[in-house]
Amino acid sequence: MIKGGRPLHGEVRVSGAKNAALPLLAATILSPGPHRLSNVPRLRDIDTLRILLEQLGAEVEINGDEVRVSCPKIKSHRAPYELVKTMRASVLVLGPLLARTGRAMVSLPGGCAIGTRPIDQHLKGLKALGASISLRHGYIYARARGALRGTVICFDVPTVTGTENVLMAATLAEGETVLKNAACEPEVVELARALNGMGARIVGAGTEEIRVQGVESLGPMDHRVGPDRIEAGTFMVAAAITRGEIRIRECPLEWMEAVVSKLKEAGVEISKEGDLVRVAARWRPEPVDLKTRPYPGFPTDMQAQMMALLSLAKGTSVITETVFEDRFMHVAELRRMGAQIQLQGPSAVVKGVPKLTGAPVMATDLRASASLILAGLAAEGITEVSRIYHLDRGYEKLEEKLSSLGAEIKRVR
Ligand code: UD1
Repeated sequence: MIKGGRPLHGEVRVSGAKNAALPLLAATILSPGPHRLSNVPRLRDIDTLRILLEQLGAEVEINGDEVRVSCPKIKSHRAPYELVKTMRASVLVLGPLLARTGRAMVSLPGGCAIGTRPIDQHLKGLKALGASISLRHGYIYARARGALRGTVICFDVPTVTGTENVLMAATLAEGETVLKNAACEPEVVELARALNGMGARIVGAGTEEIRVQGVESLGPMDHRVGPDRIEAGTFMVAAAITRGEIRIRECPLEWMEAVVSKLKEAGVEISKEGDLVRVAARWRPEPVDLKTRPYPGFPTDMQAQMMALLSLAKGTSVITETVFEDRFMHVAELRRMGAQIQLQGPSAVVKGVPKLTGAPVMATDLRASASLILAGLAAEGITEVSRIYHLDRGYEKLEEKLSSLGAEIKRVR
């Protein structure tokens, strides 16, 4: 429940990145360990992966933001449908399992609220490394006779988890693997850095061509998860949409250029102040057009939040989604709050209105739920966002952090 209309003020700290922590945790099964990860956010997706790792035979201990994993023996090769359907990123265990044991059986993720989301590129990469892959009864069966073998793989589309999956598998392959048209996201760079810390030999992460010299085995991982650029961007929009002024600690500005530049175009003030980033807005935003793109383009994971902001702009903005075709489920909910948004194919034409009004709305996916909360912070009256379990998948204590900035928000049963 949110009572809108309070400008946010104060300081907030960004948690560790979910999308970095998930592949890092999956990578722990590449070696017996013991592994230590710190600054891991407490999220439902992390719990889901923990359960999966335990089913595979890992021992996982969580203490505050620290996670210790040891994995002396793989006891199961199966990532079951029940887990994969609640979190698609479970598919990240496929590459590591296959590389370490030569076998994996992972449920095929189905569609989800933001589109069909195939994993053909993950499979294409693993096949190129020598695995045989078959699909039966909703499961991917992957097998490798002997070690995987390095080769050149050119992805048809840059895929983040696909790049990560194949990268992890290639660390233990024989010889050199070259990944072309690889995803350049900061989370891929972070994974490569952590793998290199375990003894892998990876160069080029962060560019479209990554080279991996396979090694025979990997050692323990000891890594601090970097801050979440999407959470940081969500706070920036929260400050802007309420016309407040906040300071963000652990804000990874260097990974946020596309978001920062669009917010600045909209009239939001963003500047560095020592270790903090100050974000402030005084007026209604200017309209801006944007297109989601793979990194370093505008992230699809910030599209819904930006739409909430632009629904209050002084003119018309066009937001085009090029990464996930159906990622507009929040549009109908924002409309219930008074936003004027028309969908035209892959674009949303957002005609700014002077104010939104609170309403009961329903979250449909993780970032959509953030966008509804942001809209609620600015709307007149009460907004009730239901199905917030989506939010808990990817934001750590969002309502507590927003309350500490002066928002009137509470979780109710
Ligand atoms: C990751 C992020 C997610 C983010 C997305 C795009 C994690 C855990 N999740 O998801 O938050 O929204 O990147 O930045 O890091 N595709 C194929 N075939 C494949 C794989 C992908 O066609 O085998 C397509 C997808 O349908 C989509 C595009 O490639 O159109 C990008 O998807 P991808 O980068 O794979 O997203 P995820 O890794 O699932």
